Amino acid sequence: MTSLVLRETIEPGIERLTFNRPDKMNALSTPLVREFEGHLDAIAADRSIRAVILTGAGERSFVAGADIGEYRGRKTAAFIAYQQESRRIFSKLENLPQATIAAIRGYALGGGFEIALCCDILICAKSGRMGLPEGLLGLSPGGGGTQRLTRAVGKYLASDIMLAGRRITGERAFQVGLAAECVEDAALLETAIARARAVKKLAPRAVAEMKALIRGAPDTALEPGLTAEQGTLFALYETDDAQEGIDSFLEKREPHFEGK
Ligand code: COA
Repeated sequence: MTSLVLRETIEPGIERLTFNRPDKMNALSTPLVREFEGHLDAIAADRSIRAVILTGAGERSFVAGADIGEYRGRKTAAFIAYQQESRRIFSKLENLPQATIAAIRGYALGGGFEIALCCDILICAKSGRMGLPEGLLGLSPGGGGTQRLTRAVGKYLASDIMLAGRRITGERAFQVGLAAECVEDAALLETAIARARAVKKLAPRAVAEMKALIRGAPDTALEPGLTAEQGTLFALYETDDAQEGIDSFLEKREPHFEGK
């Protein structure tokens, strides 16, 4: 049976997960999200992995959202169960200790955009088209769209995307600070890999700790946030990796971090 989410090691420390239902624009069927969760669990447990790149199979879509075919005739209880399961899995993605990079080509709609919004870094191709069109189905986002997009870009752009069903392009996503870069489609994967290699140069614990602080920042008052930040720094200062980082700088050599 073909995998609905392909896992590939790009090089030691860098994994790629590819949503693989190209004939359905990589829509998130129930079996697909479960397979995705299995990969996330395996990756979370393997600290030799430093960065994860998410991509969609085919040239037309990252992920076009929940599988609408599954919605028709579904009992409310089953609909709720799917939404709750997706929410839990998306949060698992957001909370991975490793850096996550969404490489978006074509459509990232609904749950597809919500998955991207759970990633740390977005790289968009020029063909990228992101949106939350649930209102066109008489529904609203259920995987964090109203919350994470609004935190990411503010009320007005989030409202335009959701209430007017607008899609934003890769270039616009870059202009508004959602995407770190917007590149030609052919350069998308190599750009994402370059970012992952850049992440690999940092100490793993520093990355995991900064990620948690960044994720919590929008919901934290400034003073407690500053206290949490210093608490993290003080703990990192005592790690072997911090010693190695400081020594290697002063000795003008590459650091060798061991995650300790
Ligand atoms: N769920 C299930 N199937 C989907 C899908 C989804 N979210 N998105 C696309 N597909 C399927 C189509 O039904 C079609 O299947 P078919 O060939 O068996 O008929 C196939 O993928 C290709 O899509 P199609 O609509 O023919 O391509 P298009 O280029 O005309 O449009 C989209 C592409 C992505 C704009 C359009 O498919 C779309 O709007 N999808 C739904 C997006 C959405 O509402 N997501 C949020 C869900 S809550």
